[in-house]
Amino acid sequence: MNTAVTASEVPQHIAIIMDGNGRWAQSRGLPRVVGHRAGAGAIRPVLERAEQLGVKVLTLYSFSSENWNRPTAEVDALMALCCEKLAQERAGLIESGIRLRRIGSRAGLPAEVLRELDLTEAATAGGTKITLALALNYGSRGEIVDAVRTLSARVAVGELTPSQITEELISKTLYTSDLPDPDLLIRTGGQMRLSNYLLWQLSYSEILFSNTLWPDFLPEDLCAAVDEFAHRKRTFGGIATETSAQSIPVGSHYVEQGGLS
Ligand code: IPE
Ligand code: IPE
Ligand code: MG
Repeated sequence: MNTAVTASEVPQHIAIIMDGNGRWAQSRGLPRVVGHRAGAGAIRPVLERAEQLGVKVLTLYSFSSENWNRPTAEVDALMALCCEKLAQERAGLIESGIRLRRIGSRAGLPAEVLRELDLTEAATAGGTKITLALALNYGSRGEIVDAVRTLSARVAVGELTPSQITEELISKTLYTSDLPDPDLLIRTGGQMRLSNYLLWQLSYSEILFSNTLWPDFLPEDLCAAVDEFAHRKRTFGGIATETSAQSIPVGSHYVEQGGLS
């Protein structure tokens, strides 16, 4: 990592779309589920590096509400892998002070997966080093629908007036209620789309698209992303000030405004 990156330039919240597991396996002549296993193995080193860098929340897109459209065998393998990894990692998460937080809909998730998630969330609740938010059975539009239903029910019983519905209240009603908005979104696997991920929360996030397939994504790649983030000008609709006017490094590994890395 570029030593010029100071603590204040480190994103507090990084969200990742971990894409490319299937292609990673297929390019080796292996079944897609082997790619998912390799992808699961790539998480821990990246999480540890994020914590070392001072990142406070890492949100990982692990299974979208649209991923149910995949063949049953792949979905079943993903659910089984999720149970296996949660059981395997639980003690290590507690020891490392990592808090696990599930985001997404519970409806439709198998009972065993919910059990492992609930156990891990409860067991790691005291973790203060970093929060690992697992987006599982997550879809941003569904999340917004749930929030609208919750708020309109409160209006219907007279607990809330429509004018009391603010951006802040909506944020607090989403699955991510206790998490700050991501400062940085990384999508691996070369596709340049959001795939129904954190549509509300990403409004002002910096976005990096990487061609690296998720199982090949290393802690060094995370450092490179943080480095690039530190050089971005975030103006939030305003104009760049003297101190924020920095140039983006040449030869960047990331796909930048139409260019391919
Ligand atoms: C992402 O990898 C993991 C999940 C969606 C569960 P993919 O399985 O989408 O991999 P590709 O995009 O087909 O290579
Ligand atoms: C997004 O990847 C979901 C996850 C990484 C869990 P997909 O592979 O499902 O997204 P699309 O189909 O390319 O949009
Ligand atoms: Mg994909």
